[in-house]
Amino acid sequence: MSERGNFGSRLGIVLATAGSAVGLGNVWRFPYMTGQNGGAAFILIYIACILLLGLPGMVSEFIVGRHAQANAAAAYDKLSGGRPWKLVGYLGILTSTIILGFYAVVAGWCLQYLFASIAGQVMGDADYVSRYFVSFSSHPLKPLLWALGFLLLTHLVIVRGVRKGIERASKFLMPILFVLLMILVVASCLLPGAGEGIRFLLMPDFTKLSSGVMLEALGQAFFSLSLGTACLCTYASYFSRDTRLLPSAGQIALLDTLIAILSGLMIFPAAASVGISPDSGPSLIFITLPNVFQQAFSAVPAVGYVVSIMFYALLVFAALTSTISMHEIGTAFFTEEWNLPRRRSAWVVTVVASVISVVCSLSVGALPSLQLMDRSVMDFCDQLTANFMLPAGAMLACLFVGWYIPKQVARDEFTNFGTFGTRLFPAYLFAVRFLCPLCIGLIFLHQLGVI
Ligand code: TRP
Repeated sequence: MSERGNFGSRLGIVLATAGSAVGLGNVWRFPYMTGQNGGAAFILIYIACILLLGLPGMVSEFIVGRHAQANAAAAYDKLSGGRPWKLVGYLGILTSTIILGFYAVVAGWCLQYLFASIAGQVMGDADYVSRYFVSFSSHPLKPLLWALGFLLLTHLVIVRGVRKGIERASKFLMPILFVLLMILVVASCLLPGAGEGIRFLLMPDFTKLSSGVMLEALGQAFFSLSLGTACLCTYASYFSRDTRLLPSAGQIALLDTLIAILSGLMIFPAAASVGISPDSGPSLIFITLPNVFQQAFSAVPAVGYVVSIMFYALLVFAALTSTISMHEIGTAFFTEEWNLPRRRSAWVVTVVASVISVVCSLSVGALPSLQLMDRSVMDFCDQLTANFMLPAGAMLACLFVGWYIPKQVARDEFTNFGTFGTRLFPAYLFAVRFLCPLCIGLIFLHQLGVI
């Protein structure tokens, strides 16, 4: 195992894992989910899910990955002594590849919008901008090529390996992302009439909550933390022995939540300022925001031009550090389990994800008849993975660590062999044994209409 890659520094570990967590889930999915599910009330449930279920789930995946020092499937296999827990690893690899497929479609849109804003093509009145999105996304070829282009970009980073590729890209991209986001938040909150958007985001209105909100918030929380696909397990296999698992999980969750809320503060005040409804769904950042940039900065169009380039650049960076992490799960698996060279196993993942991307992209564009269960294949993949496969994967990880592996292994990993946090361990054990499985189970049953 000595030739396995690993992260070179503590900062590298946190930034790479945070880079995985921070992505379109924060800047694209979180705002539109919040918009559709009632604003601040949704955010409160979301934060509760992160703290009570997300953190223990993250630590569980970390424990499995760091202890086994192997890819997802092998990690579960190693710790379970021949029992079929390996399937949890397979489930993770499957889930992350599906996510990579539909995620690349949106990432491809971002890349296209980045170039379009540089070329000044998304300038025009509101009607023009929404027609622009529809005509671009329903073009038979263009969105496919952008999605495939994004997958290739991801592929190029992945073949460079863990330290030179993943860690270096994250260290470089994450700080830029944060600075860009802060500039945009300030610009957005200073717009006239921004107050209403801020209120929507920060003042809970519980009458807007519906029964499906719990599952949506849970799915969003796990999606945003990259939890439930053994992604964190794979990254943890590159952690060093002295990384403290709980504090790292806490830092990453905090950063992730902060960036999601900042993204809300970037989008809703600006949308309110120009009278755009917060619940306009997945196209929020593509149809409404170009309008926002222009109307908000109409006095000095050059500022609107620069701001929109910055915004889409930010999205592309955020998406890239996330697609890298989804890709790595499969790549590590094929490299180690099938004994393929890293380069070749990366191709396996890229090709499979490309097929999914093409189908997803067509289903929301040129071929709307591509449907599964009354929704586009793209929405189907999104909902199936976020609302069902991720919570199921996280629940299994908790049950595995809580009930199955020797308690001493869990304790040693959690406390770094007794050097810290020994008093927190019982609380963690309680969470993974009872709290997480029960809560996730109840939310599932509720969604199925059983309770
Ligand atoms: N967390 C990322 C985001 O918010 C998406 C992501 C990256 C992910 N890797 C994952 C989601 C693994 C689930 C599983 O955009």
